[in-house]
Amino acid sequence: MAGIELINVHKQYRVEDRTVPVLRGIGLQIPERQITVILGRSGCGKTTLLRLTGGLEEADAGEIRYEGPHRTAFVFQEPRLMPWLTVWGNVTFGLEKREISRKKVEDIIATVGLTGFEKAYPSQLSGGMQQRTAIARALAYQPSFIMMDEPFAALDYFTREQMQRELLRVQQKQGSSILFVTHSIDEALILGHRIVVIENGLVKAEYRVPESAGDRNLLDDTFISLKRDIIKSL
Ligand SMILES: Nc1ncnc2c1ncn2[C@@H]1O[C@H](COP(=O)(O)OP(=O)(O)OP(=O)(O)O)[C@@H](O)[C@H]1O
Ligand SMILES: [Mg+2]
Repeated sequence: MAGIELINVHKQYRVEDRTVPVLRGIGLQIPERQITVILGRSGCGKTTLLRLTGGLEEADAGEIRYEGPHRTAFVFQEPRLMPWLTVWGNVTFGLEKREISRKKVEDIIATVGLTGFEKAYPSQLSGGMQQRTAIARALAYQPSFIMMDEPFAALDYFTREQMQRELLRVQQKQGSSILFVTHSIDEALILGHRIVVIENGLVKAEYRVPESAGDRNLLDDTFISLKRDIIKSL
């Protein structure tokens, strides 16, 4: 299966005269067309892992293999939009006209529920709408992988739930391949096809989430017991 494979990946940082080991030999398969969730405590190296996998930084040792086309887009914790550009301008920023058709941009904007707001500026949007614009921008780039680093962390409970549902809908519709970082177990359970727990720079545990028809109900026995297992491993 096409995807990304991490083999024995190491990363350390130098802070003044100390070296801080962050990733100590990560081995991981990240399949395409699925949501792989990276879960772990603050400071365990989730963002570092995402940045390395997405090619923003280099590993000190080990290997990151991309099977198939390799084009990654990022969605960060904050939307990071250009305030002087409209929704349309932000979504298509950096793309050549021949790279994406008008129709495709319209479809993507519709997918994230922003039809009618194409001409709005970020300051005229709610936080959730800004974050949806950032997701649309990532989709418009037509990446082979989307790297998402706690993209919903700044949102209130209800917007966050809504965004999680929307992301699932978009992912199912587009068959997107997503690496999603969070420290929320519930978010991991709602979104993940696979959940990877990172601790101390290593993969501590991996879980495959059973497919369920329709929305997942975290109060189902399967999810309650899965959550219990994850809490034990954290
Ligand atoms: N550029 C850097 N220079 C020095 N140390 C860094 C750098 N980036 C990260 N670190 C260190 O690496 C460790 C892991 O950081 P990272 O941002 O990957 O954690 P995280 O799991 O994403 O945490 P959080 O959940 O709080 O976002 C931390 O100890 C951090 O101080
Ligand atoms: Mg982080």
